[in-house]
Amino acid sequence: MSAGPVAFPAQLVTLLRGSSRLVALTGAGVSQESGLRTFRDAHPSTGSGRAGLWSQHKPEDLASPEAFRRDPKLVWDWYAWRREAVKAVRPNPGHYALAEMEQHVPGFTLITQNVDGLHRMAGSQNVLELHGNIQRVRCAECYTFTEVWDDDTESVPRCRVCGGLLRPDVVWFGESLPRDQLEAAVEAARACEVFFSIGTSGVVQPAASLAFAAHNRGAVVVEINAEPTPLTQKADHVFHGRSGEILPRLVEAVWKIT
Ligand code: APR
Repeated sequence: MSAGPVAFPAQLVTLLRGSSRLVALTGAGVSQESGLRTFRDAHPSTGSGRAGLWSQHKPEDLASPEAFRRDPKLVWDWYAWRREAVKAVRPNPGHYALAEMEQHVPGFTLITQNVDGLHRMAGSQNVLELHGNIQRVRCAECYTFTEVWDDDTESVPRCRVCGGLLRPDVVWFGESLPRDQLEAAVEAARACEVFFSIGTSGVVQPAASLAFAAHNRGAVVVEINAEPTPLTQKADHVFHGRSGEILPRLVEAVWKIT
């Protein structure tokens, strides 16, 4: 990946300048430059300390209702560890560039698969969190949210309302996405003029299909990713590299030229 200059086609710059309905779908790659591992790239095959402890588990084997049923404490502890990791990181220039884009485009929707909350921390407002938020905790049975819990207990903390086990408010493999967030995302994707797919491998549905829905409705699709994905062939513009480098330059090229 190069840090060299990125050339943005004049046609794209003009389109973005006049655009009033824009969608950006983001994935783990956008948070990679904040120091968070991407999900699939993810796990340390080796490591020391607590990271090393988790290296023997595949994320896919921990982020599921079956895993939670099988060993709730193991899954709870993994999320407690990840929550701490997320608390220690800050948004990177890619997050800030997306927040700034929102200032320039009246109908801007940011759809994220990330559960880290970094987009809001960077100032993005119209954010749809398709996979939930790792800092929220709720009851696995009655859905009641809780603000206070103890991570250092022998067993998984329980809901004060019904006594059910607490769990992170994230979407696990095999679970449905929050309906309101998904419906709003589909609507935005179908109505947009330009659809950005940024730092996502595009293999997890239904998020991955949003870019294709936008494309089928005539939107210009722009992909920013470190490497090719299943979307690359269909995209109208592809920029390979780091989103934390490309996005600020794009914002500069489109909205800051006087
Ligand atoms: N800039 C741009 N792209 C990057 C960067 C970067 N700095 N670093 C990595 N990438 C790209 C990788 O090339 C990869 O295509 O980001 C993508 C990250 O892919 P995944 O780890 O698969 O993450 P994501 O697409 O967000 O996964 C979707 O799957 O497992 C579930 O819930 C989990 O939200 C996650 C979802």
